[in-house]
Amino acid sequence: RYYFVITLGERVVADIRSDVFRHVTTLSPSFFDTAQSGEIVSRLAADTTQVKSAVGATASVALRNVILGLGAVAMMVFTSPKLSGLVIAAIPVIVLPLVAFGRSVRRKSRLAQDTLADATAYASEQIGAVRTLQAFTNEKLVTGNFSSAVEAAFEAARSSIFARSFLTFFAIFMIFSSVVAVLWFGSRDVLGGTLSPGTLGQFLLYSVFAAGALGALSEVWGELAQAAGAAERLTEILAEKPAIQAPLHPKLLPATARGAISFDDVSFSYPAGPDRAAVHGLSFQVKSGETVAIVGPSGAGKSTVFSLLLRFYDPEIGKIMIDGVNVREADPVAIRERIAIVPQDVTIFAASARDNIG
Ligand SMILES: Nc1ncnc2c1ncn2[C@@H]1O[C@H](COP(=O)(O)OP(=O)(O)OP(=O)(O)O)[C@@H](O)[C@H]1O
Ligand SMILES: [Mg+2]
Repeated sequence: RYYFVITLGERVVADIRSDVFRHVTTLSPSFFDTAQSGEIVSRLAADTTQVKSAVGATASVALRNVILGLGAVAMMVFTSPKLSGLVIAAIPVIVLPLVAFGRSVRRKSRLAQDTLADATAYASEQIGAVRTLQAFTNEKLVTGNFSSAVEAAFEAARSSIFARSFLTFFAIFMIFSSVVAVLWFGSRDVLGGTLSPGTLGQFLLYSVFAAGALGALSEVWGELAQAAGAAERLTEILAEKPAIQAPLHPKLLPATARGAISFDDVSFSYPAGPDRAAVHGLSFQVKSGETVAIVGPSGAGKSTVFSLLLRFYDPEIGKIMIDGVNVREADPVAIRERIAIVPQDVTIFAASARDNIG
């Protein structure tokens, strides 16, 4: 059981990880202008791990205890309908508050995952810029900030664990109180002579089975509520739609690239930037085979022109054509395959020189 159940959990998490990563790679640059990369990595690593424990182990515990609980309740009804009426009436009193507590566990677990992601995002940003960090001797400041972020994550996790343990406490307390109630009313019936001691003993045994099963199920409920908080963060990212999408029937670029470009009265301002347009009323033409340099002061919008050409963003007004095709009407992947770009800051990927050149 352990092998199959845990392997199932690992399998599900591996699938979620690849799905989320695949989806993240399709999102438009405008998404990454506001999202922090470390925050996304935390979703891939920490949130999926949180989900894992719920998928495997929990499912098998839930299955076993549902069967055990139903069997015990059926035997209770069979043994003494009167006493089991008492127990069945108590079930909503136990289950309804559990549902409410479960909501609070989910909210708190989500908050814990959010603060953990903040800490991860901070660490990955600082490690990514470690040269700048050390050049300005900011180690102390950064370490302090990270410690507070980790502390905040700890506090959030503690509050989530407290909510979950309170749920378990409440469930076990209520369940065993109802067992005591059964014993109380049952023993009065035994003294009155309407119930035999053997039947009461039998009934009590079944009710302990049922109580144990319900207790385990409430534990499962807590686990699921906690995982739901993390799953919410994953579904959010999966529901994110890329701002730039290929049209339903993309226009094909001419089979042989000519390299003719035209900008017609193009204006664009960054969604995450100031209202001031980065490119304003820009028109120019580059004929096939022509070599053109765009020159201007820093912040003039030269890189922005290339971002628009690569269709990382869509201009608010104006039209951009490549080889006679409006870039909005073509598949962005087809356009990008036609363009080679040598960026200002070259990224060296953690791969061989061969792979980097490739
Ligand atoms: N991702 C972004 N989000 C918000 N604003 C941006 C973004 N990228 C650039 N900008 C702003 O848009 C304007 C044009 O920037 P751009 O990078 O195109 O300038 P540039 O001409 O390439 O400058 P440089 O010569 O320094 O490379 C600047 O005001 C810049 O601050
Ligand atoms: Mg630039």
